[in-house]
Amino acid sequence: MPSVEENLNQWSNHEWSSGGDEWSVGYGGTEAMWTWTIRPRIGPFLPADHILEIAPGFGRATQYLAPSCNRLTAVDLTQRCIDACKKRFADLDHIEYHVNDGLSLDMVQDDSVDFVFSWDSLIHVEEDVIRGYLAQLAKKLVPGGTGFLHHSNMAAYRGADGELTIENKHWRATSMSAEKFRQFCREAGLRCLVQELIPWGGVDYTDCFSVFRRESPGLLRRKPRVIENSDFFTHVQKRQATEIREITRAYREV
Ligand SMILES: C[S@@+](CC[C@H](N)C(=O)[O-])C[C@H]1O[C@@H](n2cnc3c(N)ncnc32)[C@H](O)[C@@H]1O
Repeated sequence: MPSVEENLNQWSNHEWSSGGDEWSVGYGGTEAMWTWTIRPRIGPFLPADHILEIAPGFGRATQYLAPSCNRLTAVDLTQRCIDACKKRFADLDHIEYHVNDGLSLDMVQDDSVDFVFSWDSLIHVEEDVIRGYLAQLAKKLVPGGTGFLHHSNMAAYRGADGELTIENKHWRATSMSAEKFRQFCREAGLRCLVQELIPWGGVDYTDCFSVFRRESPGLLRRKPRVIENSDFFTHVQKRQATEIREITRAYREV
């Protein structure tokens, strides 16, 4: 059960040897991760006037979000991460930075966010944090504004006794699931539109990408579409990494 305090401790003391790029190796690098994995999923919501990124770390995705908006607000629990982003993006004047307590989005103006994004971070936060963020996002988003959050689905793997039935290999939050995300959206007055369940390594759907929208008059009242993408990791590792590493290298070397 990673708590807010454990996250703060983990990310304050993480080595950050390559500023987060160390986690992109399997994708064929960070640019490949953005181009092949993230951009195809969030492309329909970009550009956006005001983007809120929750938990940017050292700015691995921020560098690609920044050119897609007029204003970017970066909120992270860890001072060290916000300091690194400030340094990295010092020449950009449309980014605002905040260190939070891992729970509050009070620093973000209501009705101001067109797109909220989080990648590879909220998988480590428990249901109380996700529920709290969604309740606040229902006010921070403009009506019709959209969100994409990457979160844990480990709670889907609990037996009748409440114990996990699979090994928690990657420090996933054990209380969070795709089903709970839909419930928290309903409670908050947000509409969950798409959920993509993915296996992180292995075969079990430990992670989920959820897309949601603040209700607005005239929006179609569609049921959430839940996709089980069992090929996610194979696809990333075998196809994308090989193409990007080997094929594009051949072109670069001309
Ligand atoms: C694994 S790093 C990923 C950073 C970045 N998204 C990336 O993909 O490189 C996790 C990040 O989540 C942040 N974090 C963890 N819990 C948080 C919370 N409750 N609210 C905001 N940020 C949080 C950490 O401080 C850290 O920057």
